[in-house]
Amino acid sequence: MRIPKIPALAMEKACDAFTVFVSGFNEQTCVAFPSPKIKFWDMLFFLGGRFVKLAIVGATGLVGRSFLEVLGEKNLPIEELKLLASERSEGMKLSFKGEELSVTALKEDSFEGIDIALFSAGAKISKIFAPLGAKAGCIVIDNSSCWRMDPEVPLVVPEVNPEDAFKSKGIIANPNCSTIQAVVALAPLHKTYGIKRVVYSTYQSVSGAGKQGLDDLERTQNGLEPLKFPYPIANNIIPQIDIFLPDGYTKEEEKMIEETRKIMHEPDLRITATCARVPVAASHSESINVEFYSPFDLVEVKALLASSPGVVVQDDPESLLYPLPALAKGHDEVYVGRLRRDPSVENGLNLWVVADNIRKGAASNAVQIAELLMKGAHL
Ligand SMILES: NC(=O)c1ccc[n+]([C@@H]2O[C@H](COP(=O)([O-])OP(=O)(O)OC[C@H]3O[C@@H](n4cnc5c(N)ncnc54)[C@H](OP(=O)(O)O)[C@@H]3O)[C@@H](O)[C@H]2O)c1
Repeated sequence: MRIPKIPALAMEKACDAFTVFVSGFNEQTCVAFPSPKIKFWDMLFFLGGRFVKLAIVGATGLVGRSFLEVLGEKNLPIEELKLLASERSEGMKLSFKGEELSVTALKEDSFEGIDIALFSAGAKISKIFAPLGAKAGCIVIDNSSCWRMDPEVPLVVPEVNPEDAFKSKGIIANPNCSTIQAVVALAPLHKTYGIKRVVYSTYQSVSGAGKQGLDDLERTQNGLEPLKFPYPIANNIIPQIDIFLPDGYTKEEEKMIEETRKIMHEPDLRITATCARVPVAASHSESINVEFYSPFDLVEVKALLASSPGVVVQDDPESLLYPLPALAKGHDEVYVGRLRRDPSVENGLNLWVVADNIRKGAASNAVQIAELLMKGAHL
């Protein structure tokens, strides 16, 4: 169902009246929008007043299929869903809410009439096609690393910095999977105690490297040579994710450091990271060591995390309760446990943080951003 066109003058008057009405009604909603002159239909769109046309770029991939799963679970006002991938997948059928939808090849004009495009086809595709999508008037929510550190592009985790989504000029970046779960756990602690320094050590699943990563686990478990990773991942741990940089860090480690700073609006936060690939199919695990400026009480920390959006505390050593990647698989929550004081520094805390890298680390976070835009976000 599309909204009928109305004459420009009438629309202008309606826009003004609606803006005045909304200003009086909910000041925060207006603050969230970049322009004081909000278009009437835009406002209706953002407030969920109409159905939206959505596209998924990279629909056949691990993240793309998860988009379909997550969208299928939510009751979003979707009028049309367009599935895009490479020419190799042209004509492939994928199911959405019991319907079989055809995949079409991504082209320059694929975004005409589309309101929101969820991208998960890698940085090379995003570099070319995200600006084309934005130019065609759609909002691109991009899962690749291509735009994350661009100062013009907001990098958003809805539990942490939802307001940034409304500063977009057409492209919104979804952070790296390992960063998303870390900041969901750290942001509430930072607000309360002020983070002085963070040490990340990650144990990342092979699905973080897409279909090829999963295939490599299976291949090397069967004694075949790896095609994706530099060494067999079966019965192994590879302390390299992405390429090496001149300073000896990997690109993945740099992403975690830089993206955490950007999302938390703390450009000088002291962070270091070591990222490793482990022979686990799904969900990333992270050991996070944090130093705070303020003293903390451990019971208070647990209560704070337990009441934070998107966090589930699993922390009871007596009953062997702690987060496990196998249990986090298929869920959108970030699981936190093994909470204990680090007595080697002042105000030090250790956490074990686990989340499904394909759901919260990619698809669910991007869909949450889309929801924010649709609902107008009550910030
Ligand atoms: N896996 C994760 O945990 C994770 C987490 C966060 C972010 N991401 C990011 O999400 C993106 C996709 O990851 P993934 O794990 O889903 O990878 P994947 O399973 O390898 O899927 C890649 C997708 O990109 C499509 N594609 C490749 N070349 C294309 C082209 N020339 N034109 C159009 N589509 C093309 C593929 O389509 P075909 O099937 O037709 O080849 C497929 O749908 C990457 O940027 C990745 O960094 C992944």
